[in-house]
Amino acid sequence: MTGFANEFATEAVAGALPIGRNSPQVAPLGLYAEQLSGTAFTAPRHSNRRSWLYRIRPAAMHEPFAAIQIPRWLSHCTGCFDEVPTPPNQLRWNPLPEPAPGTDFLDGMISMAGNAACGIHLYAANRDMDSRFFYNADGELLLVPQQGRLEIATELGVLAVEPQEIAVIPRGVRFQVRLPDKDQGTARGYVCENYGELFKLPDLGVIGSNGLANPRDFQTPEAAYEDREGDFELVAKLRGHFWSARMNHSPLDVVAWHGNYAPYKYDLRRFNTIGSISYDHPDPSIFLVLQSPSALPGVDHIDFVIFPPRVLAMQDTFRPPWFHRNIASEFMGLIHGAYDAKAEGFVPGGASLHNCMSGHGPDAETFAKASAADTTQAHYITDTMAFMFETPAVIQPTRFALESAQLQHEYYRCWQGLQKHFTPPEA
Ligand SMILES: [Fe+2]
Repeated sequence: MTGFANEFATEAVAGALPIGRNSPQVAPLGLYAEQLSGTAFTAPRHSNRRSWLYRIRPAAMHEPFAAIQIPRWLSHCTGCFDEVPTPPNQLRWNPLPEPAPGTDFLDGMISMAGNAACGIHLYAANRDMDSRFFYNADGELLLVPQQGRLEIATELGVLAVEPQEIAVIPRGVRFQVRLPDKDQGTARGYVCENYGELFKLPDLGVIGSNGLANPRDFQTPEAAYEDREGDFELVAKLRGHFWSARMNHSPLDVVAWHGNYAPYKYDLRRFNTIGSISYDHPDPSIFLVLQSPSALPGVDHIDFVIFPPRVLAMQDTFRPPWFHRNIASEFMGLIHGAYDAKAEGFVPGGASLHNCMSGHGPDAETFAKASAADTTQAHYITDTMAFMFETPAVIQPTRFALESAQLQHEYYRCWQGLQKHFTPPEA
């Protein structure tokens, strides 16, 4: 099914959806009716999100939860983003090393940074979640696969996601991650755990009624269910802590559902990229895919921005991103290819963090090349897909991130070769 946050209706078995009522006295086919709400009951209609699930057993049926550890998935709730001072240095990392054999999506999650708005994590996994399921009460998960496909089996259906696509799993939705390509190598990717308002498509203002990420390109799964009994584990994340409960059946037993609170995926290659066709380089907000809004008009808690293939046509213009210092803080990753503002060092699976007011921009090699480029000719950037999680709050790296062997201590050198060109006119 396509569309962003539409009112969907889907049934894996004909007749499983009740007609007219959400909770009839007896639900069809002996199913239980259960509402899953993602916003306050009284949220305005345009932002109100909830779904009705018709399932074999209600979500309440599990044994008591007991605390467990997922040691590298950290949270602001437990103070983990305050564990070390945030340096004003430009930071960049190589891809994380291979995980140990038998590492699933949960155990393979490593927190790199975060703040009160979001947790930013990398995953590296080589095993299906098997009999393990998960839900996150702390926020929705924006998954950005970089290597290897994911099969995300959720209560509301299955999402098959490949690199250059993204998936969003709403807060509370139970799911497991399977790795169809695990025999070919580790599945890797980036995660933005959004603690705040649900991601939405931005308003387009003067762009008009089309452009950027188009609503119809968002895909929501059809209902699919498992009628399986056995020994299963349900892992929950609540206030930064992890909990485990046993279940005697699969929690993915929703036979039909309707509503507008559901997982979705989007192919970043479908993004309608808009830019300058005269001169100068627009702010990166022009590449905004999804936003988590704040109460302050025009200011988001989180912006998810991409740098996709595009044509640079601006004339007499320095075409790569300019040198800058921003009030916002920027965590970047590279999904595919090369990033046009750096000659080397920023590789697929790697990451960078440029925090509030930390100066950065093109490296010396890129500056020299772009300063000499013929801007009467269009430049086609074809082999790239980079992204940014941008927040107005400082993004605090974890101790692990700052002490990891993947941190590039020589990153600062990429700007040290910039020459002094200043030539004052002779008096
Ligand atoms: Fe930047």
